[in-house]
Amino acid sequence: MLKKNRIIRFIAAIAAVLLVLVVLSRHTHSYRDDIRRLIAPAPPRVVVMGSWLSTPRTRELMYEEVSKLVRSKPTVIEIGAWKGVNAAALLRALRPGKLILSDLWAETSDPRYKARNEDLVRKRFANEISAGIVKVRKGPSKEQIEMLEDRSIDFFYLDTTHKYELTRDELERAQRVIAPGGFLCGHNFVHDGRANYGVIPAVVEFALEEKWSITHISRKKSSTRSFCMRRMALHGVHLTPQR
Ligand SMILES: C[S@@+](CC[C@H](N)C(=O)[O-])C[C@H]1O[C@@H](n2cnc3c(N)ncnc32)[C@H](O)[C@@H]1O
Repeated sequence: MLKKNRIIRFIAAIAAVLLVLVVLSRHTHSYRDDIRRLIAPAPPRVVVMGSWLSTPRTRELMYEEVSKLVRSKPTVIEIGAWKGVNAAALLRALRPGKLILSDLWAETSDPRYKARNEDLVRKRFANEISAGIVKVRKGPSKEQIEMLEDRSIDFFYLDTTHKYELTRDELERAQRVIAPGGFLCGHNFVHDGRANYGVIPAVVEFALEEKWSITHISRKKSSTRSFCMRRMALHGVHLTPQR
């Protein structure tokens, strides 16, 4: 009888230890997830090239990485949507709840930019437009940004003229509309004197003055690099919304 009691007590002790281990491991796991969510992808400083930068090969890979850091069904905008080529990648990678596609869609000195590209975009995304996911908005970037609500955008992608003055102005205006933890991104993060690209100086000066961190730079061909920035966080901690 004594032996039987000892065995029962021994089994009960093992079961209790196992229970404690299971509970502890659950706690450790959830804290680990929370901490991972809280850790910034980059320290709060601006360094254009450095080992901490995430440098996926294409911009779509970059969107996939960023998608892990934004809330699910994010609100996304592309200013300079052209024919919707990049918009298709944004839809695939970020799975937005809402995707606003905006462009001048006017005849300009650049033969690639045409008024009829708006129709191409409307045809290309006809299903998503009728499902209420894609919204098409025509007009100059500055006006379009002004029409957006404060802190309403989780992922902002800028791809218009790439000239220094306009890009700097667009970034200044865009920061008001970025949601907490949201990303401000764009295309042609390159030095190209011939194309008169001013994206790098515009982004770096903006980031330094307004305290944003460059979190991602994609690398494919030099002329097609994209960047993403996030508002600098206190002590390097960004609050990413719960997914
Ligand atoms: C390089 S294309 C964009 C390509 C597109 N983002 C893609 O990757 O599929 C640049 C676009 O910016 C538009 N654009 C130029 N200046 C603009 C402005 N001030 N406001 C809004 N759109 C503008 C042009 O009409 C053109 O469609």
